[in-house]
Amino acid sequence: MKAPNTGIEPADMVDLLRYPIEDTTSTDGAAFANSCRQRYLQSGLCALPDFIKPPALDALRVEANRESDKAFFCNSTHNAYLTQDDQHLPSDDIARHQESTVVGSVAFDDLRDDALLRQLYLWDPLKDFVGHVLGKSSFYRFADPLGACSINVFVDGGKHGWHFDESEFTVTLMLQQPRHGGSFEYVPRIRGHPDEKQMVTGVLGGDRHHVLELPFSPGTLLIFGGAQTLHRVTLVTGDIKRLVPVLAYSEQTDQKNSDAVRSLFWGRTKSVRPQPGHD
Ligand SMILES: [Fe+2]
Repeated sequence: MKAPNTGIEPADMVDLLRYPIEDTTSTDGAAFANSCRQRYLQSGLCALPDFIKPPALDALRVEANRESDKAFFCNSTHNAYLTQDDQHLPSDDIARHQESTVVGSVAFDDLRDDALLRQLYLWDPLKDFVGHVLGKSSFYRFADPLGACSINVFVDGGKHGWHFDESEFTVTLMLQQPRHGGSFEYVPRIRGHPDEKQMVTGVLGGDRHHVLELPFSPGTLLIFGGAQTLHRVTLVTGDIKRLVPVLAYSEQTDQKNSDAVRSLFWGRTKSVRPQPGHD
């Protein structure tokens, strides 16, 4: 599949010498994918720095900056569990603590047909590799015309408060680091821990004891178990946007976002570009 605007194909974007993901059934490919799976199981994430080669990274960054003008911004408050506020709980229960999030997102259907990010997302070896790392026997790209592969956009004042994701895993690509802030901070694998509530209370109250920081390194692919790991993006300031595409997958075919999620993140429920088989 060729990207007509630059001539860069997906296999040319990825550093396949360092990361042999093209064939997870080959000896090298299987050994590499298995090592990534072990890392994911042990730490709750697998980060692959310089996954995207410099020329493709530059092109993807230019493209994402251009598309970022189409972002819809959501400004909301939520608890760490992304559940409705329960007024029956005591006011000091950690589930009643509200965090704030200000983030923009460019919907998948806003990407041009020849967008490099679209080509990369539609490249089967990437999907198959991610599925292997996550240990999935069936694994599909999202069928959602808005949420399949979107771009998170943090401008000056943007942030994402502490939370556990609703979905088991998240796959992101670090493209552009902001001038200040925008750190990805996390406390691995505390969901279901006997002291979970105490630990969450501590972190949200400012206890830095267990907090780790993942350096923002443009070109990094991140496979992240966000349902088990408390995480946030710190306040972004300055005139350079923090740009991070989010690649969505599912064990189910034809998986789509709800209208509520579409409205929250993209400000609409319908695609601007209806596709056969999708609404
Ligand atoms: Fe998250």
